[in-house]
Amino acid sequence: MKIISSSYVGPLHQLRTDALVVLIDNDTPLFTESKLDSMAKEVTKDVKDGILSSERVYSVPSGWKCGRVIFFCTSLQKNNASVEKIENTIAQSIAYCKSRGWLDVSILLNRDNENMPRFFDAAIMSQYSFVRYKSSSKKNTDKTLKINFIVEKKYSALLKERVEVVESVNLARNLVNEPANVADIDYMVNAAKKIAKDSKLKFTVLNKAELEKRGYNGLLTVGAGGHISPCMVTLEYIPAKPKNKDHICLLGKGIVFDSGGISIKPAADMWTMKGDMAGSAAVLCAMQAVVKRKPPVRISAIMCFAENLPDSKAARPGDIFTAANGKTVHVDNTDAEGRLVLSDGLFHAGKLGATHIADFATLTGACVVALGERIAGIMGNDDGWINKLLDASDATGERLWRLPLPQDYRTSLDTPVADINNVGGRWGGAINGGLFLQEFVPENTKWAHVDIAGPAFSQKKWGIYSEGATGFGVRLIYNLISN
Ligand code: BES
Ligand code: MN
Ligand code: ZN
Repeated sequence: MKIISSSYVGPLHQLRTDALVVLIDNDTPLFTESKLDSMAKEVTKDVKDGILSSERVYSVPSGWKCGRVIFFCTSLQKNNASVEKIENTIAQSIAYCKSRGWLDVSILLNRDNENMPRFFDAAIMSQYSFVRYKSSSKKNTDKTLKINFIVEKKYSALLKERVEVVESVNLARNLVNEPANVADIDYMVNAAKKIAKDSKLKFTVLNKAELEKRGYNGLLTVGAGGHISPCMVTLEYIPAKPKNKDHICLLGKGIVFDSGGISIKPAADMWTMKGDMAGSAAVLCAMQAVVKRKPPVRISAIMCFAENLPDSKAARPGDIFTAANGKTVHVDNTDAEGRLVLSDGLFHAGKLGATHIADFATLTGACVVALGERIAGIMGNDDGWINKLLDASDATGERLWRLPLPQDYRTSLDTPVADINNVGGRWGGAINGGLFLQEFVPENTKWAHVDIAGPAFSQKKWGIYSEGATGFGVRLIYNLISN
């Protein structure tokens, strides 16, 4: 199904649409259009009296050109509808119309508030599904869904912007949802190359020989078992008029499939590890979205691609290698591979001259145990930089929660045979991952590590998300840099 989004600023009675969706809650001022106002009052009363709980369909007021008017109540009983509740109601209202074949939907968003970007996102993002391998999905392809937002004129530019951002979010979701037999290392490199070309960014790929020359042994060790060699891809954006000397480096974990390697994972849910490149997809697609705004700051994206498979050439538990910064690493568990590929990415960010690094990685199951499937963990070495990410999180609804990096916990990564072990003990696994990465952060560089193992991928649908990849991180990074 094709989706078109547009805005409408004319009078309501002249609007031609299958369904006019009206969202109401305590905050919604009643309407200047008197017919709508009296309907809204009636609905409000019925909800307060407990007669009505979710939606009510009205026939067309005489003289109006729309097919029907549908009221959706968000939270009339409470004081305020939370932003999430409104997002979900928007998604629900479109699904409701679609299921009845009303494919031209107009949503009245008469709330002048800072969350408008999220309402636009919710409407468009909730229409995503990954069904290209479903034979039954072929039937619907010629249909078009039109989502029309009834907003003040000043929002039409914002709507255009959000449509572009959501395109990037959905591209990230496609990359993550594609199975590893399709989205392999070459596929990811080509996706990055295409974005670089279309967005006029400098594109570099370090292949196996170049990784060897640079001593990028983390990537080489992890990727040794895959039939496609590991590589590191860089996209660079240099602004015409930089406003300062900052150089933001976005770093993404790009394990196209994580079987665990020789320390192989259990079979249950292993298939979800096709999404272990969600960090690199987020970074790549955020880059695509953000450079459209031509921000006055230097930005690079680094993606570390490898496939973690068992093989006669694969790394073994007990192997020791020397990382790019000279530290020796003991591979206690080949399933703790993300931190190994990121060690080279962090080092490379230093080579590029990064002043600020933000890495995005599906790094630890422990982070999911700690924060659940919908909240990412954030750690780092600089309060100001971490707070910037937390602010972007608040604005976008992509939730982050800060975890500490207590330096006395570093002893859990001690090993008698090398400078650092790649796993800690049983406890605090997300923090151990962060502490490992910290050893490879270039000097005098502000660094934040975002562990997205939970929110990157969801086996069930929730809120505005269909099951599968969420594109988590794209909107967060976009907000971080474009503000
Ligand atoms: N890619 C996984 C982490 C993961 C788990 C992502 C669940 C998404 C959902 C990572 O490479 C991994 O295997 N981590 C290990 C680390 C352990 C061996 C210290 C883990 O979490 O079990
Ligand atoms: Mn792993
Ligand atoms: Zn992994």
